[in-house]
Formats: sequence, structure tokens, C-alpha cells
Amino acid sequence: MKHTSNTLPLLLSLSQYWQVANALDNGIGLKPHMGWSSWNVAQCDAASAKYAIDTANKFISLGLKDLGYEYINIDDCWSTGSRDAGGKLVPDPKKWPNGIKAVADQIHNMGLKLGLYGDAGQKTCAGYPGSEGHEASDIDQLVSWGVDFWKYDNCYTPCNQNPRPQTCNSPGGSTKTWYAPMRDSILRVQNTRKIHFNLCNWGRDKVWEWGAQYGHSWRMSVDNWGDWASVERIGSAAAGIAQYSGPGGFNDLDMLYLGSSRLNTNEERLHFGLWAITKSPLVLGLDLNKIKDSTLAIIRNKGLIDINQDSLGRAATTFRPPGQPAPVAGKIYPYWAGPLSDGVVIGLCAGTAAGRYSVNFAGVPDLGQGDFQWKEMYTGQTGMGKNVSFDIALHDMRVVKVVRG
Ligand code: GAL
Repeated sequence: MKHTSNTLPLLLSLSQYWQVANALDNGIGLKPHMGWSSWNVAQCDAASAKYAIDTANKFISLGLKDLGYEYINIDDCWSTGSRDAGGKLVPDPKKWPNGIKAVADQIHNMGLKLGLYGDAGQKTCAGYPGSEGHEASDIDQLVSWGVDFWKYDNCYTPCNQNPRPQTCNSPGGSTKTWYAPMRDSILRVQNTRKIHFNLCNWGRDKVWEWGAQYGHSWRMSVDNWGDWASVERIGSAAAGIAQYSGPGGFNDLDMLYLGSSRLNTNEERLHFGLWAITKSPLVLGLDLNKIKDSTLAIIRNKGLIDINQDSLGRAATTFRPPGQPAPVAGKIYPYWAGPLSDGVVIGLCAGTAAGRYSVNFAGVPDLGQGDFQWKEMYTGQTGMGKNVSFDIALHDMRVVKVVRG
């Protein structure tokens, strides 16, 4: 059942939050996935065994594995430019000198998982072989290698234009049909290997309305380019589609673009905090060998990770306190809230102006009258009462967990 209301009292409304109807139910993806992806690190150059193993080691030495970061996902450009004579995908021998399986085995032995990237069309976005017409045999290949995650893009897909362009703007039908054969192949192998299916159609055709019928998570926008404008564009859009996320199927706000120097520390806190409370997958897009201490502190914030991984799996969205202006499209609204299995999370975002931001708990969806205990996740401040207030610098965020006192 979908989340239909965020204004009911806590107990009543919790009964609304069952499960999003999910046709790809192979028992996984009940929480937003956490991990790392090669794409934002060095695009094609990072699609290698070296990056995969190095990142797996860093997950352990930096304590990220213990916090729940699990998937090491290799994005576009891991294969050679064409299939072999038998129609199989071939790992690029320069990037994978011992093949994929040896790396998957090593990563599994470390208690982690390996992901790869493919495409529903004739070619991937970077021009490597796509899976159209090869869905069943490609999945068999992934199973034989021990791959746990499959991001599936939408370049060079069926199109009314000839030759097919990289991005088809006139598909003449719903993009959802591109995802069905691969979903069915993943279901076919589910007793052998449980593969997380991540749809990447850049939010076309309102993928959030049908994504749970096809995959465990779906990109709801075009790429996060790593700048503040991307955080604003994607973060603000997440507010309108919160009700579609739930255990087994989550809006994917795209990889976290922290650590690139294009966001300052305040902006990195808001980026991570907003992705966490909206139940986006938390997939790091950075080189862990070069991470700054301030960024490391953000991605290791256990309180925020626990909120993201809460078993209820419901995404926070905006609410409008009495007397506050209405949200503005494309801008990050200051006031966010969402239910947790043991309370409520409130997000306060200084997306457009620094200042003092206050919330009366009585005006927060799912709270109501009374005194509440609260804890702020970035500063560690705690308190008890009927409201909270914080001075927040421009583009920074505070995340408050509230439980009944
Ligand atoms: C884009 C996708 C990116 C990345 C890239 C690889 O379509 O949105 O996340 O996967 O392709 O070429």
C-alpha cells in the first residue's frame, strides 16, 4: 500500500506504511542500498579491478563497512568495445587482468558485494555493448561471475530516429518496456543469485510511479553533476515523490558527489543529510584515497545512516509550518519531516538563506501535542520540549530525530 497521508497521528499513519507493491521481489532491497560507484571518481578510467579492490580495502580500513556501506559498483566502461564470437560480454583485460569473478570472490570474502553497469539499448552511454536482445545470457554471465548489483541505463534504446541517437527523445512508447526483459531474467535466476536491479532512465516517464514493478531502485533525475545547482534540482524534486519510496523500491537521487571541492562543507552536509532522510541509496562517488576529514565525518555519521536505513523505509518530504511561505519549485524548502519506526525525523535546510530556523513539534506531521525528546545528528545536541531552533549557515542542514518523551 502506498503512503497516502502525512497528516495523521503517528499510530494511525504508521499502519498506512506497508509495502510498495513490488514485482521484483527477490527478497533484497528492503532498505536503500549503500556503497560506492566508480563513475564520479574518474568516469571510464575508474571502471577497473584496481579501483574495486582498493575501495573494498578502504571500506574496511575507514570503518565504512561496519556502518553499512556494502556495494562496490563499477559503472560504465568495464568491458571491451564488442562482444566475443559467442555473444558474451568481455571484461577489458587491461582493467580486469584476472577477470571479474576473481575480483567478485575477493570482495565477497571481505563481506562486501560487487556491482556492474549495463544498458537496455544497443550500447551503453559511453558506447560499450548494451544488453538489448542479450538480456538472458548477460544475466547468466553476471551470475557465473557472482555479481550482486546491476545498474541499467537507457542509452541507444529503441527510437523513432534512425540511426539511434545516444539519447532518444522520441521513443514512441514507454521507457518501462526497456526494463522488463532484464527484470524477468533477474527473477529467473533469483534462487541462484539475488541481484539488486537499479533502473537508470533519468526519471523519464515518471519512473517513480512504476519503478517498483521493475526494480529495487530507480534514478529519478538526470545526473548529479556535483555542483550546488544539482543538489538543489534533485533535492527539491525529491519532495514531490516521497510517497513512492518504500521497502523493496526506492527513489535513487543519484550518487553522492561529496569530496570533489565543488561543494563546501555546509553543502556537503545538506547533500548527505537530504539524501539520507529522503531514503535515497547512499552511494559514494569519490576517491576514498583522497577524502578530507570533514567529508569523512559526514559519510560516517551513524545517526544519519541509521535514519536512512530505518526499517520503515519511508521518505521524508516537505511540510509547511504555520506562517511560513510556500515551497518554491527548484529551491530547497527549509522544512522536511518523515516517519521512522521509532519516531520522526525533521530536516531543517538553509537552502536559500542563512538564519534561525525553528519548528514547533505540534505542527510536524506525525507528531502532535506534547513534549518530545530530540537529538540533532550533526552537532550531537539533545533536548526535550515542544520545539527546536537552530542558527543555520547558508546551504547547511540540521537533522533532528524526535521521539515521544
Ligand atoms: C549516465 C548515467 C550516469 C553514468 C553514465 C555512464 O547515463 O546517468 O550515472 O552511469 O551514464 O556513461
